[in-house]
Amino acid sequence: MPRIPVFAANWKMHKTVLETVAWIREFAALSKALSADAAEIIVAPPFTAIAAAAETARTATVCVAGQNLHFEREGAFTGEVSGAMLKDAGADFVIIGHSERRRLFGDTDAWVNRKLIAARLAELTPIVCIGETLEERERGETLAVLDRQLKSGLDGSSGDQIASLILAYEPVWAIGTGKNATAAEAGEAHTHIRKRLREWFGGAHGDRCRILYGGSVKPENIRELIGLEDVDGALVGGASLEARSFAAIVQNAQ
Ligand code: 13P
Repeated sequence: MPRIPVFAANWKMHKTVLETVAWIREFAALSKALSADAAEIIVAPPFTAIAAAAETARTATVCVAGQNLHFEREGAFTGEVSGAMLKDAGADFVIIGHSERRRLFGDTDAWVNRKLIAARLAELTPIVCIGETLEERERGETLAVLDRQLKSGLDGSSGDQIASLILAYEPVWAIGTGKNATAAEAGEAHTHIRKRLREWFGGAHGDRCRILYGGSVKPENIRELIGLEDVDGALVGGASLEARSFAAIVQNAQ
């Protein structure tokens, strides 16, 4: 079964409700010719714009994701949002373990695992991010870091759950730096991740999981990245803030 490519826009802490609605309308107009079989489009606005995004996206072939969730359903966790709340607001996906969450807000592999379980309970499709820092790459630890993040993050998952999961390989040194991984670097990491999924969760399940690349993806470099066998789409930060450049990424990947 072919893997339908996924293009996800992670807006991070950008955009108001009005800007969110305008972006989705503009993107929908720019990508009218795109068939749902050709690519799945996901947009991850800030929490405050999720409901408006979901409402606007109903008439566009765009799905909505949260950028994070708390693993408890409810409770005394000031400032946090649960999976059930994201689902209630209209999200169908949620990003888990983004490197900014890990680095700036202390998310650990164990927390990623708890959030993964919580996402599934809330019927949200998880988009789990993994990736090495520059120091780890320079020490030759890239594949070991990916193994650790995958093993602890995905612990307890069934083969079927892996098949429906979305993973994002985002080398931390490539995020927001304008310096994307080369095809050889991305290819090595993606092939390794697929190999581990196949070993740990079964070949057929590992083959169905979509693995996105993230880190300075632009309209100019997507074609080379998407041409790699185990790259099934992209998680885009900066270049997703303009509907036009995100549409160009999706277009150039076809
Ligand atoms: P940039 O595309 O801005 O490098 O960000 C990537 C990212 O972090 C997506 O989650």
